[in-house]
Amino acid sequence: MDSFAAIHLGYEAAVRGLGLLAPRRLAAWLGTRARVILDLGGGTGLAADALPGRCVIVLDHSPAMLRHASARRLLADGGRIPCPDGAFDAVLCCDVLHHAAEPAHLFAEAARVLRRGGRLVVREFDPRRNRARLLLAGEHLLFPAISYRTPAAWAALAERAGLRRLRWRRDGWGFLMVLQHAG
Ligand SMILES: C[S@@+](CC[C@H](N)C(=O)[O-])C[C@H]1O[C@@H](n2cnc3c(N)ncnc32)[C@H](O)[C@@H]1O
Repeated sequence: MDSFAAIHLGYEAAVRGLGLLAPRRLAAWLGTRARVILDLGGGTGLAADALPGRCVIVLDHSPAMLRHASARRLLADGGRIPCPDGAFDAVLCCDVLHHAAEPAHLFAEAARVLRRGGRLVVREFDPRRNRARLLLAGEHLLFPAISYRTPAAWAALAERAGLRRLRWRRDGWGFLMVLQHAG
């Protein structure tokens, strides 16, 4: 079932209204060498639009969200990415992991499609932060199956897929984290 079908029309307005999009910080964390990027769970393509001059493919399993994207689109499950190994300089994953039924599969696939030395940039909400708690309670009403974790818990899950945390910092409602394939 497409759980975003009910909210796709108001989604971008909500993200902008809450100040959730941080294009300059995302670009900085991706680094200038990342030219070919997979936006994993990229939804309506907001991040892709904020990264001009790069080749961004927006992958999402929600047809409703994906049809708003103006970048190249890929309708697929993030746990089974239909792309070859090492195809991307970077993978972006913004506010997706807590929605994923099997986030470990997303980490495994992100690791697989990253080129050697490529980066996975994750943005998530931090359930420990007062600022985020109200937002998360509201989100929980819309999506009862979501599951929030701390930065350390996400990093531990990513490590099982061979992704090592390089750095992280608090950012707005949550945190940004950069991971790299350990191999
Ligand atoms: C809150 S939206 C974030 C969209 C976009 N990354 C952004 O920052 O605007 C979460 C997105 O993750 C997608 N998603 C969740 N689990 C997924 C999966 N297993 N495979 C592909 N997309 C997934 C949803 O369909 C939704 O579009």
